[in-house]
Amino acid sequence: MKVEGFFKDITGASRVTRARHQLIDSGSPQNLYHDHIRELAEEIHPKETQVRVTRIEDVSKTARKFTFEAAAGYVLPPFQAGQYVSLDLVIPDGSGKRIHTSRPYSICSAPFQARQKENPFFELTIRDGKPGEGFVSSFMYKSCRVGDTFTAHLPFGQFYYEPLRDAKRIVALAGGSGITPFYSMAQEIAHGTLDASLTILYGSVRPDDIILEKQLGAISCPGVRFVNVISGDPDYPGEKGYLSADLIRKYTQGDPADGGTSYFVCGPLPMYRFVTGELEKLGVPKRRIRMEVFGAPRDITKDPDYPARDPSVFRLTVLRGLQQTVIDASSLEPMAVAMERAGIPNQTRCRSGACGYCRCQLMEGDVFVPSVGDGRRYADKKFGYVHACSTYPLSDCTVRIMIC
Ligand SMILES: Cc1cc2nc3c(=O)[nH]c(=O)nc-3n(C[C@H](O)[C@H](O)[C@H](O)COP(=O)(O)OP(=O)(O)OC[C@H]3O[C@@H](n4cnc5c(N)ncnc54)[C@H](O)[C@@H]3O)c2cc1C
Ligand code: FES
Repeated sequence: MKVEGFFKDITGASRVTRARHQLIDSGSPQNLYHDHIRELAEEIHPKETQVRVTRIEDVSKTARKFTFEAAAGYVLPPFQAGQYVSLDLVIPDGSGKRIHTSRPYSICSAPFQARQKENPFFELTIRDGKPGEGFVSSFMYKSCRVGDTFTAHLPFGQFYYEPLRDAKRIVALAGGSGITPFYSMAQEIAHGTLDASLTILYGSVRPDDIILEKQLGAISCPGVRFVNVISGDPDYPGEKGYLSADLIRKYTQGDPADGGTSYFVCGPLPMYRFVTGELEKLGVPKRRIRMEVFGAPRDITKDPDYPARDPSVFRLTVLRGLQQTVIDASSLEPMAVAMERAGIPNQTRCRSGACGYCRCQLMEGDVFVPSVGDGRRYADKKFGYVHACSTYPLSDCTVRIMIC
Protein backbone atom coordinates (compact mmCIF):
# COMPACT_ATOMS: atom_id res chain seq x y z
CA MET A 1 0.00 0.00 0.00
CA LYS A 2 1.25 3.46 -0.88
CA VAL A 3 1.69 5.76 2.12
CA GLU A 4 0.34 9.22 1.19
CA GLY A 5 1.38 11.00 4.35
CA PHE A 6 0.11 11.04 7.91
CA PHE A 7 -2.76 13.56 7.60
CA LYS A 8 -3.91 12.29 4.20
CA ASP A 9 -4.14 8.74 5.59
CA ILE A 10 -6.02 9.82 8.72
CA THR A 11 -8.60 11.83 6.76
CA GLY A 12 -8.85 8.96 4.21
CA ALA A 13 -9.62 6.50 7.02
CA SER A 14 -12.28 8.79 8.53
CA ARG A 15 -13.94 9.05 5.07
CA VAL A 16 -14.13 5.23 4.94
CA THR A 17 -15.65 5.12 8.44
CA ARG A 18 -18.26 7.76 7.46
CA ALA A 19 -19.18 5.83 4.29
CA ARG A 20 -19.53 2.63 6.33
CA HIS A 21 -21.89 4.31 8.80
CA GLN A 22 -23.98 5.72 5.93
CA LEU A 23 -24.30 2.21 4.46
CA ILE A 24 -25.29 0.74 7.84
CA ASP A 25 -27.89 3.50 8.40
CA SER A 26 -29.45 2.98 4.96
CA GLY A 27 -29.60 -0.84 5.38
CA SER A 28 -32.76 -2.88 6.06
CA PRO A 29 -33.40 -3.80 9.71
CA GLN A 30 -34.33 -7.31 8.48
CA ASN A 31 -31.59 -9.88 7.97
CA LEU A 32 -32.03 -10.60 4.25
CA TYR A 33 -28.82 -12.52 3.91
CA HIS A 34 -29.01 -16.32 3.67
CA ASP A 35 -25.78 -18.04 4.57
CA HIS A 36 -26.40 -21.39 2.85
CA ILE A 37 -23.10 -22.88 4.05
CA ARG A 38 -23.89 -22.05 7.67
CA GLU A 39 -27.42 -23.44 7.29
CA LEU A 40 -26.08 -26.70 5.83
CA ALA A 41 -23.41 -26.94 8.56
CA GLU A 42 -26.04 -26.44 11.27
CA GLU A 43 -28.25 -29.06 9.66
CA ILE A 44 -25.57 -31.74 9.47
CA HIS A 45 -23.84 -30.81 12.73
CA PRO A 46 -26.71 -29.86 15.05
CA LYS A 47 -25.77 -28.97 18.64
CA GLU A 48 -28.12 -31.70 19.81
CA THR A 49 -30.45 -34.32 18.35
CA GLN A 50 -33.53 -35.91 19.90
CA VAL A 51 -33.41 -39.65 19.40
CA ARG A 52 -35.89 -42.46 20.11
CA VAL A 53 -35.14 -46.07 21.00
CA THR A 54 -36.69 -48.38 18.39
CA ARG A 55 -35.18 -51.75 19.32
CA ILE A 56 -33.30 -53.40 22.19
CA GLU A 57 -31.38 -56.65 21.76
CA ASP A 58 -29.23 -58.73 24.13
CA VAL A 59 -25.70 -59.07 22.75
CA SER A 60 -24.11 -60.89 25.71
CA LYS A 61 -25.24 -61.95 29.14
CA THR A 62 -24.61 -58.40 30.47
CA ALA A 63 -24.81 -56.10 27.43
CA ARG A 64 -27.64 -54.77 25.28
CA LYS A 65 -27.66 -53.14 21.86
CA PHE A 66 -29.98 -50.13 21.54
CA THR A 67 -31.16 -48.93 18.12
CA PHE A 68 -32.04 -45.22 17.85
CA GLU A 69 -33.79 -43.20 15.16
CA ALA A 70 -34.07 -39.42 14.96
CA ALA A 71 -37.25 -38.06 16.57
CA ALA A 72 -39.65 -36.08 14.35
CA GLY A 73 -38.03 -32.87 13.08
CA TYR A 74 -34.45 -34.09 13.63
CA VAL A 75 -31.88 -35.75 11.37
CA LEU A 76 -29.00 -38.02 12.32
CA PRO A 77 -25.71 -36.23 11.76
CA PRO A 78 -22.99 -38.04 9.78
CA PHE A 79 -20.15 -39.61 11.78
CA GLN A 80 -17.00 -41.71 11.33
CA ALA A 81 -16.71 -45.35 12.40
CA GLY A 82 -15.17 -45.18 15.90
CA GLN A 83 -16.76 -41.92 17.09
CA TYR A 84 -19.04 -41.62 20.09
CA VAL A 85 -22.32 -40.10 21.25
CA SER A 86 -22.81 -38.20 24.48
CA LEU A 87 -26.24 -39.10 25.90
CA ASP A 88 -27.97 -36.56 28.14
CA LEU A 89 -30.05 -38.04 30.92
CA VAL A 90 -32.11 -36.83 33.86
CA ILE A 91 -32.37 -39.97 36.01
CA PRO A 92 -32.18 -41.06 39.65
CA ASP A 93 -28.60 -41.41 40.90
CA GLY A 94 -27.61 -44.17 43.32
CA SER A 95 -29.27 -42.32 46.24
CA GLY A 96 -32.60 -41.90 44.43
CA LYS A 97 -32.14 -38.13 43.77
CA ARG A 98 -32.86 -37.14 40.13
CA ILE A 99 -29.77 -35.74 38.50
CA HIS A 100 -28.87 -34.23 35.12
CA THR A 101 -25.82 -36.00 33.73
CA SER A 102 -24.29 -37.32 30.52
CA ARG A 103 -22.28 -40.38 29.48
CA PRO A 104 -20.28 -41.18 26.36
CA TYR A 105 -20.97 -44.35 24.35
CA SER A 106 -19.24 -45.38 21.12
CA ILE A 107 -21.51 -45.81 18.13
CA CYS A 108 -21.37 -49.51 17.27
CA SER A 109 -23.40 -49.35 14.05
CA ALA A 110 -21.79 -48.25 10.80
CA PRO A 111 -21.91 -44.71 9.37
CA PHE A 112 -23.62 -45.89 6.16
CA GLN A 113 -26.61 -47.07 8.22
CA ALA A 114 -27.19 -43.54 9.53
CA ARG A 115 -26.93 -42.13 6.00
CA GLN A 116 -29.34 -44.52 4.26
CA LYS A 117 -32.56 -42.97 2.90
CA GLU A 118 -34.92 -45.63 4.35
CA ASN A 119 -34.99 -45.85 8.15
CA PRO A 120 -31.61 -44.34 9.03
CA PHE A 121 -30.43 -45.37 12.51
CA PHE A 122 -27.47 -45.65 14.85
CA GLU A 123 -26.78 -48.17 17.61
CA LEU A 124 -25.08 -48.22 21.00
CA THR A 125 -24.11 -51.31 22.94
CA ILE A 126 -24.13 -50.70 26.68
CA ARG A 127 -22.82 -53.07 29.30
CA ASP A 128 -24.63 -53.25 32.64
CA GLY A 129 -22.67 -51.45 35.38
CA LYS A 130 -21.29 -53.49 38.25
CA PRO A 131 -23.08 -52.97 41.61
CA GLY A 132 -21.70 -49.91 43.41
CA GLU A 133 -20.01 -48.60 40.25
CA GLY A 134 -22.09 -45.79 38.79
CA PHE A 135 -25.75 -45.66 37.83
CA VAL A 136 -26.09 -44.62 34.18
CA SER A 137 -25.09 -47.81 32.36
CA SER A 138 -27.24 -49.85 34.79
CA PHE A 139 -30.15 -47.48 34.16
CA MET A 140 -29.80 -47.90 30.40
CA TYR A 141 -29.39 -51.66 30.65
CA LYS A 142 -32.22 -52.30 33.11
CA SER A 143 -34.74 -49.47 32.67
CA CYS A 144 -34.51 -48.12 29.12
CA ARG A 145 -37.48 -49.18 26.96
CA VAL A 146 -38.45 -49.01 23.28
CA GLY A 147 -40.05 -45.59 22.69
CA ASP A 148 -37.90 -43.73 25.29
CA THR A 149 -36.37 -40.51 23.96
CA PHE A 150 -33.05 -38.88 24.79
CA THR A 151 -31.05 -35.83 23.89
CA ALA A 152 -27.91 -36.97 22.09
CA HIS A 153 -24.85 -34.95 21.14
CA LEU A 154 -22.89 -36.45 18.25
CA PRO A 155 -20.46 -37.15 16.84
CA PHE A 156 -17.36 -36.76 19.02
CA GLY A 157 -13.88 -38.23 19.21
CA GLN A 158 -10.77 -38.78 17.12
CA PHE A 159 -10.78 -42.57 17.39
CA TYR A 160 -11.35 -43.36 13.72
CA TYR A 161 -9.27 -44.39 10.74
CA GLU A 162 -7.82 -41.34 8.99
CA PRO A 163 -5.84 -42.29 5.85
CA LEU A 164 -3.54 -39.25 6.14
CA ARG A 165 -2.56 -40.29 9.65
CA ASP A 166 -3.01 -44.05 10.01
CA ALA A 167 -1.66 -47.15 8.25
CA LYS A 168 -4.24 -48.94 6.13
CA ARG A 169 -3.62 -52.16 8.04
CA ILE A 170 -5.23 -51.91 11.46
CA VAL A 171 -4.85 -54.24 14.42
CA ALA A 172 -7.55 -53.50 17.00
CA LEU A 173 -6.86 -54.37 20.65
CA ALA A 174 -10.16 -54.40 22.53
CA GLY A 175 -11.29 -55.27 26.05
CA GLY A 176 -14.82 -55.43 27.54
CA SER A 177 -17.21 -52.91 26.02
CA GLY A 178 -14.22 -51.49 24.10
CA ILE A 179 -15.27 -53.78 21.24
CA THR A 180 -18.05 -51.37 20.19
CA PRO A 181 -16.14 -48.93 17.92
CA PHE A 182 -14.53 -51.89 16.13
CA TYR A 183 -17.90 -53.43 15.29
CA SER A 184 -18.73 -50.13 13.58
CA MET A 185 -15.43 -50.15 11.63
CA ALA A 186 -15.84 -53.83 10.67
CA GLN A 187 -19.31 -53.23 9.22
CA GLU A 188 -18.15 -50.15 7.32
CA ILE A 189 -15.24 -52.13 5.79
CA ALA A 190 -17.55 -55.03 4.86
CA HIS A 191 -19.93 -52.56 3.22
CA GLY A 192 -17.07 -51.21 1.09
CA THR A 193 -17.25 -47.66 2.48
CA LEU A 194 -14.05 -47.86 4.54
CA ASP A 195 -10.89 -48.78 2.66
CA ALA A 196 -8.77 -50.50 5.34
CA SER A 197 -8.16 -53.98 6.75
CA LEU A 198 -9.00 -54.80 10.37
CA THR A 199 -7.83 -57.62 12.64
CA ILE A 200 -9.62 -57.47 15.99
CA LEU A 201 -7.97 -59.11 19.02
CA TYR A 202 -10.67 -59.06 21.67
CA GLY A 203 -9.75 -59.86 25.27
CA SER A 204 -12.42 -61.22 27.67
CA VAL A 205 -12.17 -63.12 30.93
CA ARG A 206 -14.65 -65.90 30.08
CA PRO A 207 -16.32 -66.87 26.83
CA ASP A 208 -19.73 -65.69 28.05
CA ASP A 209 -18.30 -62.18 28.64
CA ILE A 210 -17.81 -61.72 24.89
CA ILE A 211 -19.99 -58.88 23.59
CA LEU A 212 -21.38 -58.79 20.01
CA GLU A 213 -19.84 -62.20 19.25
CA LYS A 214 -22.66 -63.39 16.98
CA GLN A 215 -22.78 -60.05 15.16
CA LEU A 216 -19.00 -59.88 14.60
CA GLY A 217 -18.89 -63.55 13.61
CA ALA A 218 -21.53 -62.90 10.94
CA ILE A 219 -19.32 -60.40 9.12
CA SER A 220 -17.83 -62.23 6.20
CA CYS A 221 -15.27 -60.04 4.47
CA PRO A 222 -11.61 -60.74 3.60
CA GLY A 223 -10.60 -57.39 5.14
CA VAL A 224 -12.00 -58.22 8.58
CA ARG A 225 -10.71 -60.82 11.03
CA PHE A 226 -12.04 -61.38 14.55
CA VAL A 227 -10.08 -63.30 17.22
CA ASN A 228 -11.28 -63.87 20.79
CA VAL A 229 -8.61 -64.05 23.50
CA ILE A 230 -9.79 -65.58 26.79
CA SER A 231 -7.83 -65.07 30.02
CA GLY A 232 -9.95 -66.93 32.60
CA ASP A 233 -10.79 -70.32 31.06
CA PRO A 234 -7.89 -72.75 30.58
CA ASP A 235 -10.14 -75.07 28.53
CA TYR A 236 -11.02 -72.45 25.91
CA PRO A 237 -10.17 -73.94 22.52
CA GLY A 238 -8.96 -70.67 20.93
CA GLU A 239 -6.38 -68.04 21.95
CA LYS A 240 -5.79 -67.88 25.73
CA GLY A 241 -4.12 -65.33 28.01
CA TYR A 242 -3.81 -61.57 27.56
CA LEU A 243 -3.21 -59.24 24.62
CA SER A 244 0.53 -59.82 24.96
CA ALA A 245 3.39 -58.74 22.72
CA ASP A 246 3.70 -62.32 21.39
CA LEU A 247 0.02 -62.49 20.45
CA ILE A 248 0.08 -59.05 18.83
CA ARG A 249 3.15 -60.05 16.80
CA LYS A 250 1.44 -63.27 15.71
CA TYR A 251 -1.50 -61.36 14.21
CA THR A 252 0.51 -58.51 12.69
CA GLN A 253 1.59 -58.85 9.08
CA GLY A 254 5.30 -58.02 8.94
CA ASP A 255 7.32 -56.35 11.70
CA PRO A 256 5.17 -54.33 14.20
CA ALA A 257 8.05 -51.84 14.48
CA ASP A 258 8.15 -51.04 10.75
CA GLY A 259 5.19 -48.62 10.88
CA GLY A 260 3.11 -50.58 8.35
CA THR A 261 0.35 -51.30 10.90
CA SER A 262 -1.71 -48.97 13.08
CA TYR A 263 -2.80 -50.24 16.50
CA PHE A 264 -6.15 -49.02 17.83
CA VAL A 265 -6.57 -49.70 21.56
CA CYS A 266 -9.95 -49.44 23.27
CA GLY A 267 -11.00 -50.64 26.70
CA PRO A 268 -10.71 -50.04 30.44
CA LEU A 269 -7.74 -48.26 32.02
CA PRO A 270 -5.88 -51.36 33.34
CA MET A 271 -5.96 -52.95 29.86
CA TYR A 272 -4.75 -49.68 28.32
CA ARG A 273 -1.75 -49.64 30.68
CA PHE A 274 -0.89 -53.29 29.99
CA VAL A 275 -1.25 -53.05 26.20
CA THR A 276 0.78 -49.82 26.01
CA GLY A 277 3.68 -51.68 27.65
CA GLU A 278 3.36 -54.61 25.20
CA LEU A 279 3.34 -52.29 22.17
CA GLU A 280 6.42 -50.56 23.58
CA LYS A 281 8.20 -53.94 23.84
CA LEU A 282 7.45 -54.51 20.15
CA GLY A 283 8.95 -51.13 19.25
CA VAL A 284 5.72 -49.87 17.63
CA PRO A 285 6.22 -46.20 16.72
CA LYS A 286 4.01 -43.88 18.86
CA ARG A 287 2.41 -42.34 15.75
CA ARG A 288 1.00 -45.78 14.94
CA ILE A 289 -0.89 -46.13 18.26
CA ARG A 290 -4.36 -44.68 18.79
CA MET A 291 -6.13 -44.93 22.14
CA GLU A 292 -9.65 -44.54 23.48
CA VAL A 293 -9.88 -44.89 27.26
CA PHE A 294 -13.37 -45.78 28.41
CA GLY A 295 -13.83 -43.31 31.27
CA ALA A 296 -12.20 -41.97 34.41
CA PRO A 297 -10.22 -44.27 36.74
CA ARG A 298 -12.35 -46.28 39.19
CA ASP A 299 -10.02 -45.41 42.08
CA ILE A 300 -7.84 -42.37 41.55
CA THR A 301 -5.65 -43.17 44.56
CA LYS A 302 -4.32 -46.20 42.62
CA ASP A 303 -2.83 -43.90 39.96
CA PRO A 304 0.97 -44.34 40.24
CA ASP A 305 1.46 -40.53 40.39
CA TYR A 306 -1.28 -39.80 42.95
CA PRO A 307 0.25 -38.05 45.98
CA ALA A 308 -0.12 -39.99 49.26
CA ARG A 309 -3.06 -38.27 50.99
CA ASP A 310 -6.02 -39.34 53.12
CA PRO A 311 -9.39 -38.95 51.37
CA SER A 312 -10.95 -35.57 52.24
CA VAL A 313 -13.88 -33.35 51.36
CA PHE A 314 -12.83 -29.84 50.29
CA ARG A 315 -14.66 -26.56 49.61
CA LEU A 316 -14.96 -25.93 45.88
CA THR A 317 -15.90 -22.35 44.96
CA VAL A 318 -17.45 -22.25 41.49
CA LEU A 319 -17.59 -18.89 39.70
CA ARG A 320 -20.07 -18.76 36.84
CA GLY A 321 -20.61 -15.32 35.36
CA LEU A 322 -21.49 -13.16 38.38
CA GLN A 323 -22.63 -16.17 40.44
CA GLN A 324 -20.48 -17.74 43.12
CA THR A 325 -21.42 -21.10 44.64
CA VAL A 326 -19.51 -22.99 47.30
CA ILE A 327 -19.95 -26.77 47.26
CA ASP A 328 -18.38 -29.89 48.78
CA ALA A 329 -15.92 -31.77 46.57
CA SER A 330 -14.45 -35.15 47.46
CA SER A 331 -10.77 -35.69 46.71
CA LEU A 332 -11.80 -39.08 45.21
CA GLU A 333 -14.11 -37.63 42.54
CA PRO A 334 -13.51 -35.33 39.58
CA MET A 335 -14.69 -31.73 40.06
CA ALA A 336 -17.23 -32.21 37.24
CA VAL A 337 -19.02 -34.86 39.35
CA ALA A 338 -19.05 -32.58 42.42
CA MET A 339 -20.66 -29.84 40.29
CA GLU A 340 -23.24 -32.29 38.93
CA ARG A 341 -24.16 -33.46 42.39
CA ALA A 342 -24.69 -29.80 43.37
CA GLY A 343 -26.81 -29.15 40.25
CA ILE A 344 -24.35 -26.67 38.69
CA PRO A 345 -24.67 -26.89 34.88
CA ASN A 346 -21.33 -27.64 33.25
CA GLN A 347 -21.11 -29.37 29.86
CA THR A 348 -19.43 -32.77 29.62
CA ARG A 349 -18.99 -35.03 26.61
CA CYS A 350 -16.11 -37.56 26.91
CA ARG A 351 -15.82 -37.43 30.73
CA SER A 352 -12.29 -38.72 30.41
CA GLY A 353 -10.25 -35.54 29.92
CA ALA A 354 -10.03 -35.64 26.14
CA CYS A 355 -12.61 -33.37 24.49
CA GLY A 356 -12.21 -30.10 26.45
CA TYR A 357 -15.95 -29.41 26.83
CA CYS A 358 -15.68 -29.14 30.63
CA ARG A 359 -12.62 -26.84 30.49
CA CYS A 360 -12.51 -24.32 33.32
CA GLN A 361 -10.00 -21.94 34.89
CA LEU A 362 -8.39 -22.95 38.15
CA MET A 363 -8.12 -19.66 40.07
CA GLU A 364 -6.87 -21.13 43.35
CA GLY A 365 -6.01 -24.48 44.93
CA ASP A 366 -4.06 -27.65 44.49
CA VAL A 367 -5.35 -30.41 42.18
CA PHE A 368 -4.33 -33.78 40.70
CA VAL A 369 -4.74 -34.52 36.98
CA PRO A 370 -3.90 -38.13 36.00
CA SER A 371 -1.56 -38.31 33.00
CA VAL A 372 -3.87 -40.68 31.09
CA GLY A 373 -6.79 -38.24 31.40
CA ASP A 374 -4.79 -35.12 30.65
CA GLY A 375 -5.95 -33.96 27.23
CA ARG A 376 -5.11 -30.29 27.89
CA ARG A 377 -3.24 -28.15 25.40
CA TYR A 378 0.18 -26.83 26.36
CA ALA A 379 -1.13 -23.25 26.73
CA ASP A 380 -3.96 -24.40 29.01
CA LYS A 381 -1.52 -26.18 31.31
CA LYS A 382 0.66 -23.11 31.39
CA PHE A 383 -2.16 -20.64 32.15
CA GLY A 384 -3.98 -22.75 34.73
CA TYR A 385 -6.91 -24.24 32.82
CA VAL A 386 -8.14 -27.75 33.71
CA HIS A 387 -10.69 -30.23 32.43
CA ALA A 388 -13.11 -30.63 35.34
CA CYS A 389 -13.95 -34.27 34.45
CA SER A 390 -10.33 -35.34 35.02
CA THR A 391 -9.30 -32.97 37.83
CA TYR A 392 -9.35 -34.06 41.48
CA PRO A 393 -9.12 -31.47 44.29
CA LEU A 394 -6.25 -31.81 46.78
CA SER A 395 -7.20 -28.66 48.75
CA ASP A 396 -9.98 -26.05 48.82
CA CYS A 397 -10.19 -24.72 45.26
CA THR A 398 -11.79 -21.97 43.19
CA VAL A 399 -12.66 -22.50 39.52
CA ARG A 400 -14.32 -20.30 36.92
CA ILE A 401 -16.57 -22.27 34.57
CA MET A 402 -18.11 -21.28 31.23
CA ILE A 403 -21.76 -20.28 31.12
CA CYS A 404 -23.68 -22.95 29.17
C1 LIG B 1 -15.40 -42.46 24.38
C2 LIG B 1 -16.09 -43.48 25.24
C3 LIG B 1 -16.88 -44.45 24.66
C4 LIG B 1 -17.53 -45.40 25.46
N1 LIG B 1 -18.31 -46.36 24.87
C5 LIG B 1 -18.94 -47.28 25.62
C6 LIG B 1 -19.75 -48.29 25.01
O1 LIG B 1 -19.86 -48.35 23.79
N2 LIG B 1 -20.39 -49.17 25.82
C7 LIG B 1 -20.27 -49.11 27.19
O2 LIG B 1 -20.90 -49.95 27.87
N3 LIG B 1 -19.48 -48.20 27.79
C8 LIG B 1 -18.83 -47.27 27.03
N4 LIG B 1 -18.04 -46.33 27.63
C9 LIG B 1 -17.89 -46.35 29.07
C10 LIG B 1 -19.05 -45.64 29.73
O3 LIG B 1 -19.24 -44.32 29.26
C11 LIG B 1 -18.71 -45.56 31.20
O4 LIG B 1 -18.62 -46.84 31.71
C12 LIG B 1 -19.75 -44.75 31.94
O5 LIG B 1 -19.05 -43.96 32.85
C13 LIG B 1 -20.73 -45.60 32.69
O6 LIG B 1 -21.54 -44.75 33.50
P1 LIG B 1 -21.94 -45.21 34.93
O7 LIG B 1 -22.71 -44.10 35.55
O8 LIG B 1 -22.63 -46.52 34.84
O9 LIG B 1 -20.58 -45.45 35.65
P2 LIG B 1 -19.56 -44.34 36.08
O10 LIG B 1 -19.51 -43.18 35.15
O11 LIG B 1 -18.29 -45.03 36.38
O12 LIG B 1 -20.24 -43.84 37.39
C14 LIG B 1 -19.54 -43.54 38.44
C15 LIG B 1 -19.48 -42.07 38.44
O13 LIG B 1 -20.68 -41.56 38.91
C16 LIG B 1 -20.36 -40.65 39.90
N5 LIG B 1 -21.52 -40.49 40.74
C17 LIG B 1 -21.97 -41.32 41.67
N6 LIG B 1 -23.07 -40.77 42.25
C18 LIG B 1 -23.29 -39.60 41.64
C19 LIG B 1 -24.25 -38.58 41.77
N7 LIG B 1 -25.20 -38.62 42.69
N8 LIG B 1 -24.18 -37.54 40.95
C20 LIG B 1 -23.25 -37.43 40.04
N9 LIG B 1 -22.30 -38.36 39.87
C21 LIG B 1 -22.32 -39.42 40.66
C22 LIG B 1 -19.15 -41.24 40.55
O14 LIG B 1 -18.38 -40.36 41.27
C23 LIG B 1 -18.37 -41.69 39.34
O15 LIG B 1 -17.61 -40.67 38.76
C24 LIG B 1 -17.38 -45.37 26.86
C25 LIG B 1 -16.56 -44.40 27.44
C26 LIG B 1 -15.93 -43.45 26.65
C27 LIG B 1 -15.07 -42.41 27.30
S1 FES C 1 -15.89 -33.80 29.21
FE1 FES C 1 -14.35 -34.08 27.76
S2 FES C 1 -12.61 -33.20 28.71
FE2 FES C 1 -14.13 -33.16 30.24
